[in-house]
Amino acid sequence: MNMDLLPRLLLLLLPLFSLFDSSSQSPVSISVSPTVLANSGDTLRIRWTGVDSPSDLDWLGIYSPPDSPDDLFIGYVFLSSDPAYRTSGSGSISLPLPNLRANYSFRVFRWSKSEIDPKKLDHDHNPIPGTRHHLATSEPVGFLAERRPEQVHLSFTDRDDEMRVMFVTGDKEERLVRFGKSERKLQFSVKSSVDRYEREDMCDSPANETSGWRDPGWIHSAVMKGLKKGVRYFYQVGSDSGGWSPIYRFTSRDDSDEVFAFLFGDMGTATPYTTFSRTQGESISTMKWILRDLEALGPSKPSFVSHIGDISYARGYSWLWDHFFTQIEPVAAYVPYHVCIGNHEYDWPAQPWKPDWAQTIYGKDGGGECGVPYSLRFSMPGNSSEPTGSRAPATRNLYYSFDVGPVHFVYMSTETNFLPGSAQYDFLKNDLESVDRERTPFVVMQGHRPMYTTSYESRDAPIRAKMLEHLEPLFIENRVTLALWGHVHRYERFCPLRNFTCSATEGYPVHVVIGMAGQDWQPLWQPRSDHLADPVYPQPARSLYRGGEFGYTRLFASREKLTLSYVGNHDGKVHDKVEILASGLVVSSPIDGTEGLQKAGAAESSFSWFMKGASVLILGAFMGYILGYVSHAQREGTMRWRWTPVKNDDV
Ligand SMILES: *[C@@H]1O[C@H](CO)[C@@H](O)[C@H](O)[C@H]1NC(C)=O
Ligand SMILES: *[C@@H]1O[C@H](CO)[C@@H](O)[C@H](O)[C@H]1NC(C)=O
Ligand SMILES: *[C@@H]1O[C@H](CO)[C@@H](O)[C@H](O)[C@H]1NC(C)=O
Ligand SMILES: *[C@@H]1O[C@H](CO)[C@@H](O)[C@H](O)[C@H]1NC(C)=O
Ligand SMILES: [Fe+2]
Repeated sequence: MNMDLLPRLLLLLLPLFSLFDSSSQSPVSISVSPTVLANSGDTLRIRWTGVDSPSDLDWLGIYSPPDSPDDLFIGYVFLSSDPAYRTSGSGSISLPLPNLRANYSFRVFRWSKSEIDPKKLDHDHNPIPGTRHHLATSEPVGFLAERRPEQVHLSFTDRDDEMRVMFVTGDKEERLVRFGKSERKLQFSVKSSVDRYEREDMCDSPANETSGWRDPGWIHSAVMKGLKKGVRYFYQVGSDSGGWSPIYRFTSRDDSDEVFAFLFGDMGTATPYTTFSRTQGESISTMKWILRDLEALGPSKPSFVSHIGDISYARGYSWLWDHFFTQIEPVAAYVPYHVCIGNHEYDWPAQPWKPDWAQTIYGKDGGGECGVPYSLRFSMPGNSSEPTGSRAPATRNLYYSFDVGPVHFVYMSTETNFLPGSAQYDFLKNDLESVDRERTPFVVMQGHRPMYTTSYESRDAPIRAKMLEHLEPLFIENRVTLALWGHVHRYERFCPLRNFTCSATEGYPVHVVIGMAGQDWQPLWQPRSDHLADPVYPQPARSLYRGGEFGYTRLFASREKLTLSYVGNHDGKVHDKVEILASGLVVSSPIDGTEGLQKAGAAESSFSWFMKGASVLILGAFMGYILGYVSHAQREGTMRWRWTPVKNDDV
């Protein structure tokens, strides 16, 4: 009976197929190699052949898990990104892919101009590819060591003699961290605690929709305890049954009088394909230059990273967190990675604290994540916590502080209540008032939205006013040395400030905006107040340096002097710096970028010394990287040849 029915059904359906699918006569094929990738981030080659009359809009859909419906791809690449495609109907592409703990598959689609749906647009207002003509599907691609821990990253705890390690696996079975002073003898071992979040914990779309949600895996956290000071430790995470990570190392906090740190905001992550929201290609350069600096610094100097909000820009597209943690692992598995919450981790329509003046400030920037991935994927010191007002777990990692060498570092949240009467305000007040300036002569305050900026960002004016009214007095009274902010994707350094007024002698905080690590939308600077429409942006006297280049800052402090240097990603050199003495006196000396690190000044001399030794070694490897990156960018250029990214207001 079946035998009879099948041909008849096919006969019935065939005309339908050919109506929609003009190429049904020619078999389109797609192949992948290898079909099993060894490590997360390894490169896969995808080949397709046999597409008749190729169109520039034909595309390759990237799917995970492999049985996702056609419209639930995680990203796409135009087939015409291979120039051979237009004439031959065949082509290939290489994609480095992170392990999403589910297999991938790839599908070839035909798409033409007439089928563009102007109502289905992505975040950049580009049309989302149509899926009506599905021509071929690849076999699934997986990862060899499926159960091995990935996305390893470190952070400080509240104790000097501890280090936390976090990582992700696809199952909830217990894992261990084993560590020791010798690579061959990891004699200590600690079990991880395991946690996860569910789609029901997400507060809005796309995070709670099938389009954005993917299984985030199981998140492990373990604390290595009883560490000796200033010692190099080796560690790995995993289990005998599930496999072990590579062996990483870190240097524990010491009693030295120095600190090195890398600080920036708004970095994001890069994907080798186009996805629903814009990703941040520049994040690759930021991480690479920091890696260069870390290698130059050598393994004996402890340091850490401070990423002050707008972290992965996943905004509800779950797999972007996997890209982010895969991308930072070469740094974050070796030095603690510290974070502040930003609007893109948190803000959603029903967020619990939304005073009248903040109605237009706190919008939907979190893509419905409502701080949940941020709160579970990181574990910062302290025990700050704010309920979400829903079944979602409370928001954590909001405010905390720690000392390294001569500096007291403070982290705050500009997305949750910071006004007098709030738990955060009490924390900040108590924390700043109890700093022992003998022990830590410098205090560095960090938060996401700036208290000062001369960018033309009028929407945030009310929050700046509240910060000025309530937080600046705390900063002044407690002689905060440096206040670092993100959110504005520019570097901008101010004079020592109080209520918009500079003073060189009062020991006022130096404010610096450092949101230039990857996100590409840049606000204009403030225009002349009497000619708002004219492109003239006079730089107010309080704004001492404005940088337009992507990059990050390096902080170096001894007991006598703190130096913050701005490194540009375009050349890896220092383009601005400020030096602040323990007395609070600011000695800034803007430098010429062409002089580079070697002349970056006395305070950074110890850094420069490390740099010189290693730079020759690293340069060779790095040039290879740069070339790779440029060709990647060019590929992207051709890939998106007819799309015009709309620069929307997206800080
Ligand atoms: C991936 O595919 C392989 C082969 O089809 C299968 O054995 C494996 O279980 C899949 N992995 C996952 C995580 O689904
Ligand atoms: C996602 O959250 C929004 C806001 O709470 C809600 O209106 C919507 O129905 C949710 N979607 C799903 C699929 O649960
Ligand atoms: C945790 O919170 C309590 C108050 O709720 C506070 O007394 C305690 O010091 C906090 N612990 C840490 C490590 O911050
Ligand atoms: C800040 O300066 C403005 C304008 O000069 C003044 O009106 C305001 O009172 C000042 N605020 C404080 C806290 O000093
Ligand atoms: Fe932001």
